Amino acid sequence: MKEVALFLLLVALAGLPGLPAGNPPPPGSLRVEHLQNPIGIDVEKPRLSWVLPQHGRGQRQSAYQIVVTTAAGEVWDSGRVASDQSTGVVYGGPALTSGTTYAWRVRWWDKDGQESPYSEPGTFETGLLNRAEWKGKWIGGGNQLRREFRLDARPVRARAYVAALGYYELRINGQKVGDHVLDPGWTTYDKRVLYVTYDVTAQLRQGANAVGLMLGQGWYGQREALMQLNIELEGGRKAEIVTDESWRAGQGPILADSIYNGETYDATRETEGWDQPGFEASSWPAAVVVDGPKGVLSAQMMPPIKVVDTLAPRKLSSPKPGVYVYDLGQNISGWVQLRVRGPRGTKVRLRHAELIYDDGTLNTENLRRAKATDYYVLRGDADGEVWEPRFTYHGFRYVELTGYPGAPSLDSIRARVVHTAVEPTGAFAASKQILNDIQRITLWGVRTNLHSVPTDCAQRDERMGWMADAHLAAETAMLNFDMAAFYTNFLRDMSDEQSSDGAVTDTVPHKWGRRPADPAWGSAYPLIAWYMYLHYGDRRVLETHYEGLKAWADFLASKAENHIVGYSYYGDWVPIEKTPGELVSTFYHIWSHDIVARAAAVLGRTADAEVYSKRAAEIREAFHRKFYRPETGDYANGTQTANLLPLYLEIAPKEVQGRVRGNLRHDILYRNNTHLTTGIVGTKYLLPYLTRAGLADLAYELATQITFPSWGYMIERGATTLWELWQEKTGPSMNSHNHPMYGSIGAWFYESLAGLAADPDKPGYRRIVMRPQMVRDLRWAAGRIRTPYGTAACSWQRTEDSAEVEITVPVGSEAEIHIPTLGLSAPEVSEGGVAVWREGAYVPGVQGVTSAKAEARAIVIEAGSGRYHFRLTGQ
Ligand code: BGC
Repeated sequence: MKEVALFLLLVALAGLPGLPAGNPPPPGSLRVEHLQNPIGIDVEKPRLSWVLPQHGRGQRQSAYQIVVTTAAGEVWDSGRVASDQSTGVVYGGPALTSGTTYAWRVRWWDKDGQESPYSEPGTFETGLLNRAEWKGKWIGGGNQLRREFRLDARPVRARAYVAALGYYELRINGQKVGDHVLDPGWTTYDKRVLYVTYDVTAQLRQGANAVGLMLGQGWYGQREALMQLNIELEGGRKAEIVTDESWRAGQGPILADSIYNGETYDATRETEGWDQPGFEASSWPAAVVVDGPKGVLSAQMMPPIKVVDTLAPRKLSSPKPGVYVYDLGQNISGWVQLRVRGPRGTKVRLRHAELIYDDGTLNTENLRRAKATDYYVLRGDADGEVWEPRFTYHGFRYVELTGYPGAPSLDSIRARVVHTAVEPTGAFAASKQILNDIQRITLWGVRTNLHSVPTDCAQRDERMGWMADAHLAAETAMLNFDMAAFYTNFLRDMSDEQSSDGAVTDTVPHKWGRRPADPAWGSAYPLIAWYMYLHYGDRRVLETHYEGLKAWADFLASKAENHIVGYSYYGDWVPIEKTPGELVSTFYHIWSHDIVARAAAVLGRTADAEVYSKRAAEIREAFHRKFYRPETGDYANGTQTANLLPLYLEIAPKEVQGRVRGNLRHDILYRNNTHLTTGIVGTKYLLPYLTRAGLADLAYELATQITFPSWGYMIERGATTLWELWQEKTGPSMNSHNHPMYGSIGAWFYESLAGLAADPDKPGYRRIVMRPQMVRDLRWAAGRIRTPYGTAACSWQRTEDSAEVEITVPVGSEAEIHIPTLGLSAPEVSEGGVAVWREGAYVPGVQGVTSAKAEARAIVIEAGSGRYHFRLTGQ
């Protein structure tokens, strides 16, 4: 009793206005253009973001101040700005200059006007902002380029700018610079080439230096480089080392390199010391000056591809004499690090596959033309040698070793997991094991398909930015990883591919597939832009791409007859039951218009907002007229996807929705014994729609199904990444075992089971809709995501007549928590014994909670920032 009273008293005191609550701690997690202390950025007006610390309940920022400095002094002081904005604040100082390091600090005033100390400084550094600052020439002529130079004073600041293609490895004085691999990112090279900036101050020294570049053909198909070193020496002088005809070009030990086929490395051809000063390079011809790619140079402003993990194999077997097969126990993207000792000239072969035959040998049929084979020729070191390829990657779970001197052991290889090193930002778990298994294979599937662009697969002769695959997995990716910079880059890639008629391409960069893209593929452009706004609150993305998105919607309109877009190549791809392509295309026609209309509203372009929403309404009507069958209450052929899509986007008029929904439910339950028949398109929207329509139990049954077709079916058959097809196939046909597109379910885990959803009216989780679904036999679920405002979390557990919900709302956000009443007749919600809802009414008293009301089957609580622990009880 005493404790409760004391608690109440504290709550009351903390809530009293004007009472000194203590100064708030400083902001943290400083970011610039979604990146932490980026080096080499080329945005004219970068956006600054910070995260406010938890500091009591219902807290918010009332003002901020940013100070930006360089070595030369202060460049911008925002002054005290009365604003609650803490993300995407546009730098407002004088124009940035090239190759400059900017340090910035920020402080905030809380809701009571209390001021925090300044944050620890963050930094950002500009790249080369003008093409004219690149002094070198594109060179080629070999796969190892080198040059020596002398510095007659100690270097105090040095930067390397590298725009090599297809792939490069930068080496200075005998060492690899940085930890990127497979750099730079893949782009449409005649439009744009990415360059990477490195701080190489520590690698250079007074006296003799050497710089080397190893080149692989990558996606470019040729080996060329443009780089420069900008060096400041002690005493103030400067030196510039740039690629030109003074460089030497050699053929190194890499005899062949291909993304699909693998790498051949002959260590007997290594030329010791080639990347160090003093090397005798007179036999190396001069580098050849080449035209170089036509595209502009842009800073690579996304996380690089890295070796993100190293795995030890689980099993080793020898299905035939001299043939050794490793099982990693996990399908990955990357390569193998080989550890070997043997006679000079011994050639070891490594083949990679997702599958094995019953006899334990490798099944490479589904790789199609990709050879996925690396060769290593031994140097013959008495202490053994360690090698891994540089300019290829494979999608594999099994590795076959032949030609190995002696018998290899489990320690003869390690698997290197390689992909764009996006930071993990989410976590989800639930009481039902199958959901955790799906989450696990989804994470593997999504991340191993991030290779500077989102790829369709990691293993066969594709690995391209297929656009539907990209948008269908995008929200799952965003909830689990920090994808903001990655998709910002990918959206620019899309706009690089957009032609003057507004069309975009099936794959971006465009290599396979068609132009114009299938509407379901091309709509990745508006959809991913919209998801960037929804999940990261990134308004600039909408601004930057506004004209492009409009052009895409207009393009679709130009292809439409009576608003129906008749062309479609893939439609609801790889389904169990096929849906007419024109229905799918017209669905995306509507959605593309909806997004333009919403973007227009966000950007204050009211006239456009009206035009596009009016058009969207017309297309909705036309869709209904064309596809609805009043005799049956179905759309088109009545497949799950055909009925779902018009329900999902509210194309179906109110008066038929119930009937169509009934048909959809019936089809799932009775025609298909609680299974889905959807392809990649329908699958993305099926569970979210059912949940929204009050059929969360049914969505849950589909999610936890283990017989064909279902995610559980893949798991039961040993999948460690998501398959391309619902069917289990292993032959030469199209059947990748690592395709991220069915990973769309991952977003539903967070949004519906954990209950963490973004609100488009207050995007970027400024307002979080927490509506956890306490379905069927699910006893608990927990989700945590990193939003632009900080960590948001919602976890719950329940019994028959009670539930506990624990939530975290970051400072700057607010939440709407829907606590299901579990059918209790007198539900009561409290926190620490203090009622929030009792006898059918809101009880003020819990600090940070501003209101509560009853909804159909939930009590909805409005809460400001803070951590809460609600308890539901009743009869
Ligand atoms: C890819 C897909 C892609 C499709 C187009 C396939 O080869 O792997 O995932 O979206 O082609 O239909």
